[in-house]
Amino acid sequence: MKCRVCKAPAVIDVRRHNANFCQPHFLKLCRDQVGKAIDQFAMLSPGERVLVAVSGGKDSLALWDVLLDLGYETDGLYVGLGIGDYSESSADYARAFAEDRDRRLVEVDLRETHGYDIPTGAKSARRAPCSVCGISKRHVFDRAALDGGYDALATGHNLDDEAAVLFGNVLRWETEYLARQQPVLPARDGFPRKIKPLIRLGERETAAYCILRGIDYEVEECPMAAGNKHLGYKEALNAVETTSPGSKQQFYFGYLERAAALFTACEGESADGIALAPCANCGAPTPGEVCAFCRLAERAARTQAVAAPVRKAAS
Ligand code: AMP
Ligand code: FES
Ligand code: ZN
Ligand code: ZN
Repeated sequence: MKCRVCKAPAVIDVRRHNANFCQPHFLKLCRDQVGKAIDQFAMLSPGERVLVAVSGGKDSLALWDVLLDLGYETDGLYVGLGIGDYSESSADYARAFAEDRDRRLVEVDLRETHGYDIPTGAKSARRAPCSVCGISKRHVFDRAALDGGYDALATGHNLDDEAAVLFGNVLRWETEYLARQQPVLPARDGFPRKIKPLIRLGERETAAYCILRGIDYEVEECPMAAGNKHLGYKEALNAVETTSPGSKQQFYFGYLERAAALFTACEGESADGIALAPCANCGAPTPGEVCAFCRLAERAARTQAVAAPVRKAAS
């Protein structure tokens, strides 16, 4: 197996590109793909300040590392979700990376800041943990990026993530979600710009990138992910990719290039005619008086306050 670029012994094959790469050329490929995504979708301009949402996993740490290498001014944001040991050790990986690179890591702990954690939030809302986790993270990301005056908030969503989300949205013809499934969401009143610079890399590549760069990351999956539909969609797409390399990329980029525009008219369809006004509690734009996050947080914090003394007595 020889590197496509320099013919030295290769360390990885990337079947999607029908090519093998040595270590330096694989790392260059990753950087180039991130740079290309940023340019292709006008995600960032030189010198802009970026807040990188880091979970402690391979994708977001690889993203932070590449953005630093590309010369962007970046800080990290870690959200403490209170999912037992998993959250503790994920935080340690994010902290270790920030310390090693001498970069600032903004930390927001859900329990300390909003009075609840994800397990309690899911119980009190009688919703799947991932849905509560998603609402909570989005709120914290938006707030932190706006309060810190960052130009954009970057997440580590990769090609596998985006293809799986697209697959789910198409299966159910979620036209509103399809309209918003973009690699860049421009800043709007009360929302920061959101970017996904890893969309040209698969998760096998981000894992290899971290290993080759010596970046330690959380290997465990979130213990609350069991039953998450996206895992099933990923498996289905992986099965297709095995027999037909490049399918995921064609599916996702084909959507962006040839189909996404057909759905733009569906954006905000269900809220048509309803004006957004600042949430009475947090100020985020919402069609109601109090936003969905604040309603969820209020109920979850009440449940947590009742559960906490019981837990303490039991420990
Ligand atoms: P997920 O929703 O878990 O698939 O994660 C998608 C992206 O959200 C990751 O690549 C990170 O950029 C970000 N993210 C996930 N969990 C956290 C967290 N606890 N703190 C900060 N960012 C996170
Ligand atoms: Fe859904 Fe962790 S809560 S993956
Ligand atoms: Zn090479
Ligand atoms: Zn609110």
